[in-house]
Amino acid sequence: MSFKNKTVLITGASSGIGAATAIAFAKEGANLSIIGRNQEKLAITASQCSEHGQVPLVIVADVTKDEDLIRAVDTTVEQFGGIDVLVNNAGLMRFASILDENIMEAYDQTFDTNLRAVFRLTNLAAPHLIKTGGNIVNISSIAALKMPDHPSHITYYVSKAAVDHFTRCIAAELASKGVRVNSVNPGPVRTDFADNIGLSREEAVGFWERSGKLTALGRICEPEEIADMTVFLASDKARGITGASFVVDNGKLVKIKTP
Ligand SMILES: NC(=O)c1ccc[n+]([C@@H]2O[C@H](COP(=O)([O-])OP(=O)(O)OC[C@H]3O[C@@H](n4cnc5c(N)ncnc54)[C@H](OP(=O)(O)O)[C@@H]3O)[C@@H](O)[C@H]2O)c1
Repeated sequence: MSFKNKTVLITGASSGIGAATAIAFAKEGANLSIIGRNQEKLAITASQCSEHGQVPLVIVADVTKDEDLIRAVDTTVEQFGGIDVLVNNAGLMRFASILDENIMEAYDQTFDTNLRAVFRLTNLAAPHLIKTGGNIVNISSIAALKMPDHPSHITYYVSKAAVDHFTRCIAAELASKGVRVNSVNPGPVRTDFADNIGLSREEAVGFWERSGKLTALGRICEPEEIADMTVFLASDKARGITGASFVVDNGKLVKIKTP
């Protein structure tokens, strides 16, 4: 699955799944453009990619800002001459139920990052992907496919359901232009996601432990497992796959609940 001379643009590469994905593509020889807001964490990802001979273009950018996304695409194309793969990975979760006063604040934050940024970056990158016959992998979630565990998770769940339908719609539109579009839908994955939703380090450990017990296989994924699926979907081995969503959840969706 060599990505030599291919350019991969990854959002949210400062942490978790995005960082592991950048490293996985670096191992396959890809040129990398990595995006996030946290400069220190991006530098760590960059140095881990460099160990595999690929020094990434580091773009400190907020995916909710159009001007940052325009800069990210422009500088990537200037540096590498094009874009072959876009990984829309940056995402977050905010809590509010439909009965809460802060529901629209949670909605705006969640949708700006999880959906609007995916729309805008896809819009900006698509002409370049058409030129290279490239493809897109959106990092969705099993949240797109099930009911929330709690009513306060609604904005996250609805945003990820929208990401899946966006994937299918854009796959349909771009197929005739030679561009594939797919999503990966992880179940629980051990990343900084729990810390970034406001849990303490100790609470996060408990959260991941409980999450493992809720899967059929009794474990959660490491970010590298999601990265492997993403690299596969972006590769020529997946040349017949588009408009599809791939669950990687240790059987969380199929776990039989004992009464
Ligand atoms: N972990 C799980 O259990 C799980 C399960 C299903 C799906 N997912 C999905 O996987 C994706 C990656 O999450 P993760 O688990 O790796 O979580 P994470 O460790 O919290 O990473 C989230 C990434 O998103 C970036 N990000 C968030 N807002 C951003 C913004 N406005 N601009 C630029 N970057 C932004 C963060 O970068 P900065 O902080 O540097 O900006 C960070 O790199 C998300 O879409 C998430 O919904 C995760």
